[in-house]
Amino acid sequence: MSEVVTYNREGSIGVITVNYPPVNALSHGVRSGLVAALEQGQKDADAKVLLLVCEGRTFIAGADIREFGKPMQEPGLAAVIDQYENSDKPIVAAIHGTALGGGLETALGCHYRVALSSAKVGLPEVKLGLLPGAGGTQRLPRLTGAQKALEMITTGDFVSAKDALGLGIVDAVEDGSDIKAVGLAYAQKVADDNKPVRRVRDLTDKIDADKGSDVFDQFRAGLQKKARGLFSPFKCVDAVEAAFNLPFDDGMKRERELFMECMESPQRGGLIHSFFAEREVSKVKGLAKDTPVREINKVGVIGAGTMGGGIAMNFANAGIPVTIAEVKQEALDKGLAVIRRNYENTAKKGRITQAQVEERMSLISGTLTYDDFSDVDLVIEAVFESMDLKKTIFGQLDKACKPGAILASNTSTLSIDDIAAATSRPQDVIGLHFFSPANVMKLLEIVRGEKTSDEVKATAMALAKKIRKVGVMVGNCYGFVGNRMLHKRGAEAMALVNEGASPQQVDKVLTDLGFPMGQFAMSDLAGIDIGYSIRKERRKAGEDVPASWMDKLAEQGRLGQKTQAGVYKYEEGNRKPIPDPQVDQIIAEFRAEQGITSREITDQEILERCMYVMINEGAKILEEGIADRALDIDITWIYGYGFPAYRGGPMFWADQVGLDTILASVKNFQDTVGGEQWKPAGLLEKLVAEGRQFGDL
Ligand code: 3HC
Ligand code: NAI
Repeated sequence: MSEVVTYNREGSIGVITVNYPPVNALSHGVRSGLVAALEQGQKDADAKVLLLVCEGRTFIAGADIREFGKPMQEPGLAAVIDQYENSDKPIVAAIHGTALGGGLETALGCHYRVALSSAKVGLPEVKLGLLPGAGGTQRLPRLTGAQKALEMITTGDFVSAKDALGLGIVDAVEDGSDIKAVGLAYAQKVADDNKPVRRVRDLTDKIDADKGSDVFDQFRAGLQKKARGLFSPFKCVDAVEAAFNLPFDDGMKRERELFMECMESPQRGGLIHSFFAEREVSKVKGLAKDTPVREINKVGVIGAGTMGGGIAMNFANAGIPVTIAEVKQEALDKGLAVIRRNYENTAKKGRITQAQVEERMSLISGTLTYDDFSDVDLVIEAVFESMDLKKTIFGQLDKACKPGAILASNTSTLSIDDIAAATSRPQDVIGLHFFSPANVMKLLEIVRGEKTSDEVKATAMALAKKIRKVGVMVGNCYGFVGNRMLHKRGAEAMALVNEGASPQQVDKVLTDLGFPMGQFAMSDLAGIDIGYSIRKERRKAGEDVPASWMDKLAEQGRLGQKTQAGVYKYEEGNRKPIPDPQVDQIIAEFRAEQGITSREITDQEILERCMYVMINEGAKILEEGIADRALDIDITWIYGYGFPAYRGGPMFWADQVGLDTILASVKNFQDTVGGEQWKPAGLLEKLVAEGRQFGDL
């Protein structure tokens, strides 16, 4: 008997128990164990009904993703589920935690399903670039009809037990926490009532109702926008449609073909890399798992501007009281009003209730003095990007805050060590770099200073989880990981326009790669004045920052979306960038002033210069130990800048392009374009020489 799946009998119920921590994934051992246990249950003359239940925190959470890409070992999951469905004895699946992917498919192969009210079900394969490949696309629509099955399968979103009951996915929902007791009671009822074997494959009413409807074409049209650039959502629709056009067994064959197409697509590789990378980033190199963490029960935020307000909302959303400090009452009132408006808008969309708006607002208070920070466990400073100002504030916080309070800065480029030096407790100082809009973007770049203690680092990582962010630990340098790479791309994009490209050509290359917006549309969103003041500051400090046509935009008051004109122009109330002939004129004048003869620039050159400059910088970041692993850079870019997850992040993408190709191009640009940014990273040269990749590090 398999160790991970056991069979025993309780009264007239034969109990099949899966115990394969952490999430009972359907590994080869579990699949073969399920078959063996079923055979035992069939043979057990005293077992009238069978119950499938799982130990630990969850029902089966899906196929074992770690087995993907390796040769499949029999029995395949679809065959296992077939055997369950074809059982002569009724089988009840008892669901707790999450029944996901192959896990839900297994439950759908059983004849009855009972769930705890806390449970969730879903088919999230699409998030891994796949589609449900063990009957999910054929069985789910037989229970829910086409529309809901399409929604669940193409989004991968989970459904609560209560909603699953309404949709017919489960037959009963019970409160409580003892899934085995709930499962046994339900199975006993099935036995007592002599309920028949009820096979989902044989259900026809929902199929007949939606046969020939235009729901599939409509759904495909909607996906063109929602799933831009993605492969598997469209295959999901094809597979579900097969359930309506083909007999069950033929539908299963079609599902398999489409599943294999997804399995072989490069997007599957990128998305699965992203899945594991997201989990790996929580394991910080050199930080012991049992490092003690400090309690964060009360938080202070300094600055109620764009970032401060969004940062405060994260804590209120997690039920943690937060006090925001400003210099003037007017700025404070304005900041608090923006927060309220944001919550009200979310409530209008039905995502939270009005009561939740009030509850969250009641957790946010304002102050004009740091005296109110005497009992906070953490302060996050989010004032203007000025080192002098930040140093003054940290000096004051050092005096105002209790010993052991963590002092954090949301700076996007400045040195955490220099800021920490303004305090008597550099061990308690850390960077907590949120991304705009701070209440939405999932990334939290956690910047360790030279002297930051392990306890503070571990607390920051735990905090990220608590406020539902993905925390990535990085080292201290100009721009850290994300902005350091972004600024290289920005400078290159600007240079490409100097030389002859148009802003919209550059942006299109980036959006075609899968970014939600291009470099210049992003500048308009953030505000042209931000880059302009950074360049001015750097020139003042004596750095060689070349003149730019973007300076001219700022000087003419074209500050981006907020003035309805920047690199693009905007119509009232619309964020869609529209190319503007006036900007073409400004660029042409700039070229003339600089004596530049514009030339034709190919999309390929744009792609290489914008992306390879980032990869080269990423390699330098790894070399310097600013990022511990290539996957830390990948997650930073996926969650901070919308890098398409299906390409796995910039460093994973670089491995797919080929590091030798990239190095050759970097060397070419070193000769033709020149500049420090094109000096090949030592690590890139080393990896190419050794025939290795970033993923091998
Ligand atoms: N296969 C292998 N390992 C898995 C796994 C899976 N399906 N799901 C989770 N794990 C691992 C994680 O990598 C992690 O490992 P680690 O501790 O070594 O880092 C561990 O289980 C715990 O996972 P989380 O940290 O994510 O734990 P949470 O409690 O936060 O979340 C979960 C649990 C909701 C189950 C979440 O892990 C999840 O969403 N898993 C993926 C589910 C999924 O996509 N299933 C579909 C798989 S594809 C499929 O079934 C194909 C079929 O149609 C044929
Ligand atoms: P902002 O200009 O919108 O807000 C700054 C706020 O700080 C203003 O309301 C100002 O009144 C207040 N302030 C100034 N001095 C203060 C003091 N001594 N005490 C209390 N409040 C004070 O600026 P934004 O965009 O929110 O940026 C803040 C910080 O966050 C900067 O360091 C910036 O680099 C960083 N950041 C900005 C991002 C963005 O996209 N805007 C993204 C990530 C980080």
